[in-house]
Amino acid sequence: MRPTPVLLDCDPGIDDALAIAYLVAEHLAGRIELVGVVCTAGNVGLPDTVANALAWLDLAGAPPVPVCAGAAGAIAVPHVFTPETHGPRGAGHAVLDTTTRCVDARDGARLWVDAARAYPGELVAIVTGPSSTLAGALEREPDLPGLVADLAVMGGTFRGHPGNTTPVGEWNVDVDPEAADAICLRWEAARAADADLMVPLWCGLNLTERAVWTPRHSERLLAVADSPLTRALVEALRFYFEFHDSVGEGYLARVHDPFVAWLALHPDMVITEDSHVRVECGGEHTRGMTVEDRRGHRGRADNARIATGVRVPGGPDAVLDEVFAAIASLGR
Ligand code: RIB
Ligand code: CA
Repeated sequence: MRPTPVLLDCDPGIDDALAIAYLVAEHLAGRIELVGVVCTAGNVGLPDTVANALAWLDLAGAPPVPVCAGAAGAIAVPHVFTPETHGPRGAGHAVLDTTTRCVDARDGARLWVDAARAYPGELVAIVTGPSSTLAGALEREPDLPGLVADLAVMGGTFRGHPGNTTPVGEWNVDVDPEAADAICLRWEAARAADADLMVPLWCGLNLTERAVWTPRHSERLLAVADSPLTRALVEALRFYFEFHDSVGEGYLARVHDPFVAWLALHPDMVITEDSHVRVECGGEHTRGMTVEDRRGHRGRADNARIATGVRVPGGPDAVLDEVFAAIASLGR
């Protein structure tokens, strides 16, 4: 069995850094082939998300992997950066060295299309930031939904679970609702044309907020794998602890992105419900809301698998233990 080809579209970002490290570990273990990393503007600007991705790949000992700069901001509105959540440069308290690893000349949307065409029906794509670059890729290759084997999106919130950015909005979707809605529309149309099409795995806060990294995780990580990578991750996470504490969540870090990366690689272990989702782009109070049509009022084809749980004894904590072990394997 050839390792599963995987593409990551991220906005590093502190928990994105854990996702990068986890996927590098899975690549080096031969379980996946990390065929590319797309960087999208997110909490910090595109130059920083690109520089951070390169640095984290270096620290993780990644093989040469194409890294491409994607969208520099939201596709329809001015991008709202949030340095208070991931630090002024997107790496928390970590000071990342510049790297000799270079950026691929292609833009991120091009890498999406090239990777999907290179691995038709095999590529597993993971988005852990805004969908801005993916929306552009769909413009370039409308058949992207038919080419990728699976798409996992860290985005939105479902089943009445509150937002982390607005009462109803999760940050990746809230910052670029038009892009997220484009994903919904494209996969709706593709599924209407092909009832067997795999629709995206939407991993919202209702599940991802249960992935909690604590100072104890950081202590254990340094104890079992003290390295430049783990020391930088621990310093990045220290900022995330402070951010979460500042918004009343306690001195902890909700690490959405590596959790979603694990879900993407273990789809059979994810409890899902097929549904139809659109993203509100106009509401004064609800812009950025992922609106799930659980009763089929719209009569539209299902365009999403909503992740609601994991089929793992020990639940999300046990999933995070697997992510931890993979990252620790890099630092030894
Ligand atoms: O809402 C959580 C998401 O926003 C995560 O991807 C985190 O990295 C931030 O980008
Ligand atoms: Ca992210």
